[in-house]
Amino acid sequence: MNYKNALQHHIFKIISKSAKSLNIDAYVIGGFVRDYFLERGEAKDIDIVAIGNGIDLAQEVSKQIPNHPKVQVFKTYGTAMLKYEDIEIEFVGARKESYSEDSRNPIVENGSLEDDQNRRDFTINALALSLNENTFGELLDPFNGINDLDAKIIRTPLNPDITYSDDPLRMLRAIRFASQLDFKIESNSLNAITKNKDRIKIITKERIVTEINKILLSKKPSVGFILLEKTGLLNYILPELTALKGIDEIEGQRHKDNFYHTLEVVDNISKHTEDLWLRWAALLHDIGKAPTKKFHKKIGWTFHGHEFKGSKMVYHLFKRLKMPLNDKMKFVQKMVLMSSRPIVLATEVTDSAVRRLVFDAGNHVEDLMTLCEADITTKNPKKFKRYHNNFKIVRDKIIEVEERDHVRNFQPPVSGEEIMKTFNLKPSREIGIIKEIIKEAILEGEIPNEYEAAFQLMLKEGEKLGLIKHEER
Ligand code: CTP
Repeated sequence: MNYKNALQHHIFKIISKSAKSLNIDAYVIGGFVRDYFLERGEAKDIDIVAIGNGIDLAQEVSKQIPNHPKVQVFKTYGTAMLKYEDIEIEFVGARKESYSEDSRNPIVENGSLEDDQNRRDFTINALALSLNENTFGELLDPFNGINDLDAKIIRTPLNPDITYSDDPLRMLRAIRFASQLDFKIESNSLNAITKNKDRIKIITKERIVTEINKILLSKKPSVGFILLEKTGLLNYILPELTALKGIDEIEGQRHKDNFYHTLEVVDNISKHTEDLWLRWAALLHDIGKAPTKKFHKKIGWTFHGHEFKGSKMVYHLFKRLKMPLNDKMKFVQKMVLMSSRPIVLATEVTDSAVRRLVFDAGNHVEDLMTLCEADITTKNPKKFKRYHNNFKIVRDKIIEVEERDHVRNFQPPVSGEEIMKTFNLKPSREIGIIKEIIKEAILEGEIPNEYEAAFQLMLKEGEKLGLIKHEER
C-alpha cells in the first residue's frame, strides 16, 4: 500500500532529495505515522530514520532549506534536530542497540531499518513510510502495527521483557498511550510491566512527570491511573495516592475508598477543564486523608484537617518529583487547602460566606467551584441533584456579591498610611487592628466596600482605642 497522502508537506520532498544526494535511504517513522492512521490531526513532531548517518542527513536537509535552520546535534545519541516552520524534525541513524543495565543510555551500532524498528517501543510506533524516490509513501510494517491500531492494542515488537528492561520509561509510555488513545495493553505486556516495575527507579523524575502529565491530560485519566495502580508503578511514583486505597470498617462503620473516589473526581473535572494544574489539584485534593484518618466511637471516621495536611504534602510531592515549585504548585496547594470550603456553602448560602470565599480564593474562585462540583460523586440521584443545584446558587451568588462588593483581589478602602496620618501614628499594631476590623466588617456585610463607610468606621475604632484625630490636637 502507498500512503503518499500522508507525505504532502513539502518537507518530505526536501528530506527525500537530501537522502538521495547522500546516497542513503530515509524513512519517516513513529508518532507521525501512527497519528496519520489514527487521524489525530497534523503532527508537530516528525521522526526520520536514516539508513546511514542521521546527523549528516539533518545537515544536508538544512542546506536545502532557504534560511538554513540551525541543526542541533546530540552526539551521545547520534541524533540531530532542526526546526522547520513550526515542525520539529528529529533525525537518527538506524541502529541496533541494547541499553546498559543501569541507565537509559544506549550502546549503539549501525543497523538496518528492520533493526531500528525492532528496537522501538510498540508495534504502532514502529510503522515507517518510505521517503525514497522509487518507493515514496510505501508502508513498512513488519509487526502488523496497522492491525494493532485497528484493534486498539499496545504491543511490543520484541518480547516485552526485553523492550521494557531496555528502556523502563516505556512501561509508563504504554500506560500513557492506553489512556490517551483508549487502547488496551496486550496481556503479556501488562504482565511484563508488573514484573519489571521496580526498574522505573532508573528513570529521571522529569521524564516520569511528562508521562503522568499526559495521562492526566487524557480524556479519561482514570484509565491510566488504574493501570498504574494495577501494575504497581503508582506506588513508586505517587505513594500518596495508593495510600488512599481501601475501605476500613470498624463496628459496622465504613468510609469510602478515597483512591477510586479521587479517580472519579479527576474524570469528572476532565469533562470541564483542560487545565493541567486544575487536574493535578483534583488528583491530589484528598491526599491528606490517609495521614489524618481516625475512628471515633461516637461519630465514626474523620479526616480532620486533611485539607491543610494535603496542601503541605503537595509541596513535598512536587519537590520529590522535581516539578516546578512556582505559582503552579501554589495554585494546587491553594485548591487542596480550600477544597472543602464551598461544600459547607452547599447547605446554606449566605452573602457573607460567599464574600469570604471570593476573598480567600481570589481569581481562583471559579476553578475552586469546578473542583468542588467534580467532587460530587454521590450515587444517590436526589443528593446529586440537590448539591449541584446548591452549587449553581453559589455560582450565581458569587457573581452578585462580586458585582456589588468587589472583594476579589481585595484592597483595603482605607490604607495604613491614611490611618497613620489621621491619628498621627508611627507604624504600630493599632494600624493592623483597625485594618482588620474594617476588612471583617466588609466581609460580614456590616459596611459596604467603600471609602466613606470605611473611613467612618476607622474614626470610630480609633476612638475606641483611645487615639486622637490629628486636626483636633
Ligand atoms: N520511542 C521508543 N522508546 C521510547 C521513546 C520513543 O521506542 N522510550 C520511539 C517510538 O518509535 C516513538 C518515537 O521513538 O514513536 C518518537 O518518540 P516520541 O516523540 O517520544 O513519542 P511519539 O511516539 O512521537 O508520541 P508523542 O508525540 O505522543 O509523545
